[in-house]
Amino acid sequence: MALIISTVNMKGGVGKTTLTVNLAACLARHHKKRVLVVDLDSQISATLSLMPPQDFARIRKARRTISYLIETTIKPTLKLKQSYDINDIICPFIANVQGLDLLPGDIELYDEYLVSEMLHKKASKDSSTDFQSIWNSFELILIKKILEPVMDNYDFIIMDCAPGYNLVTRSGLAASDFYILPARPEPLSVVGIQLLQRRIRALKESHENTDPDNLDPIKLNLLGIVFILSGGSLLNRYYNQVMRRVSDDFTSTQLFKNKIPMDVNVAKALDTFQPVVISMPATAGAKAFQKLSGEFLEKLKDAGGITDRSPGRINLADIE
Ligand SMILES: Nc1ncnc2c1ncn2[C@@H]1O[C@H](COP(=O)(O)OP(=O)(O)O)[C@@H](O)[C@H]1O
Ligand SMILES: [Mg+2]
Repeated sequence: MALIISTVNMKGGVGKTTLTVNLAACLARHHKKRVLVVDLDSQISATLSLMPPQDFARIRKARRTISYLIETTIKPTLKLKQSYDINDIICPFIANVQGLDLLPGDIELYDEYLVSEMLHKKASKDSSTDFQSIWNSFELILIKKILEPVMDNYDFIIMDCAPGYNLVTRSGLAASDFYILPARPEPLSVVGIQLLQRRIRALKESHENTDPDNLDPIKLNLLGIVFILSGGSLLNRYYNQVMRRVSDDFTSTQLFKNKIPMDVNVAKALDTFQPVVISMPATAGAKAFQKLSGEFLEKLKDAGGITDRSPGRINLADIE
């Protein structure tokens, strides 16, 4: 069964997508793992880092993106012209990397208003459950349900979350075993990290309260914070002070030792539709991601993550 890992930070532009695609590509290329990248951000940066825009336009026209899966999971009785399952939508061998697949994102994922309306209607019909519990159950199963058919096909499913904290992000987090938090070493990042941690604690608690007998509670532990260095210098005294400040708030196991330097090649790789670790493996940026992927596997072993999981207890009927 795949381990699910989310790359998350409520801030945008901190390096979530870059980390997601490079880590995934390293795990597939250098560690021979079967990896699925799931693009949960309507900015579709992960998708466009791995495939040319004209290819994306083609699959989007045919509705073969995650948006189709979200829509049909939300409305299972919906009749669409063409019906697909997740295997029809996943793009295998993406960016020419053996073992690397992509579940492409979409610029329109779902209509939050329509989803709220649907859940409100259900809550008003069913007097024994309130809106909050219905919303929590929905959040808990949406992404899990979508990924369930392919859980055995991968070693890792890595999800690129949108900034902010929307329904799809929360549902992705609820389905995850671990999350990775890329952060710039800046004073305000410390607040951002603490806010996200608080929300994640609340997310876990709200689901425990929704269903105290839940046999499959949210796992979601922090695998580690990855510093993405602005300015590129590991020796900068100021950055080192800030990183120490962040480090004081966490145990050493919650921090990745490897840090990612700023390297223009990382950004330039976007033109090749391949992550820098594939298109320019000898660059400083690529080497940093390669080291990080080794540390990622070590950390998972230490966290007891690379073991079998008990089967999930998912029942869509509960929310219909
Ligand atoms: N290590 C790096 N070196 C150089 N540029 C980077 C690096 N990491 C990210 N970038 C660039 O910074 C921008 C934001 O990164 P991105 O991964 O898209 O952030 P997020 O997903 O958090 O919004 C992108 O243009 C990306 O190419
Ligand atoms: Mg992004």
